[in-house]
Amino acid sequence: MRIPPELVTEYQEVDFAHANLLAELKRMRSIGPEEIRSSIDFLRQHTAQHFACEERHMKEMAYPGREAHREEHLVFFDQFVLLKARIEQDGATPENVGALVSAVERWVAGHVLRQDRRFAQFVRATRSPR
Ligand SMILES: [Fe+2]
Ligand SMILES: [Fe+2]
Repeated sequence: MRIPPELVTEYQEVDFAHANLLAELKRMRSIGPEEIRSSIDFLRQHTAQHFACEERHMKEMAYPGREAHREEHLVFFDQFVLLKARIEQDGATPENVGALVSAVERWVAGHVLRQDRRFAQFVRATRSPR
């Protein structure tokens, strides 16, 4: 799956993880309620791994913006846990699933634009100083 051009960081590993995440969100809109639980598990694992990977890179590169960036990852999990709980309690209705998918999509778009791209720019500038 291609990611929207404004979300490309040119950090291959990061772009690949974002593309997988967006693809799964898109898929969630079309699967039945019985598949939703495994899809949510996938999202949780995938994002946890991806955040850990970004946070490791930021630390290695001594990126000055890493605390603010990490904070957004933590806020994401808080939101995610709430939306997941709603699905577990009230069922995987199209409304509940749609709310989770839309919230995660919005979060990804905002976070990648603000934080991931900024970090990717920092990495490029650090690796190829002029
Ligand atoms: Fe991030
Ligand atoms: Fe990311």
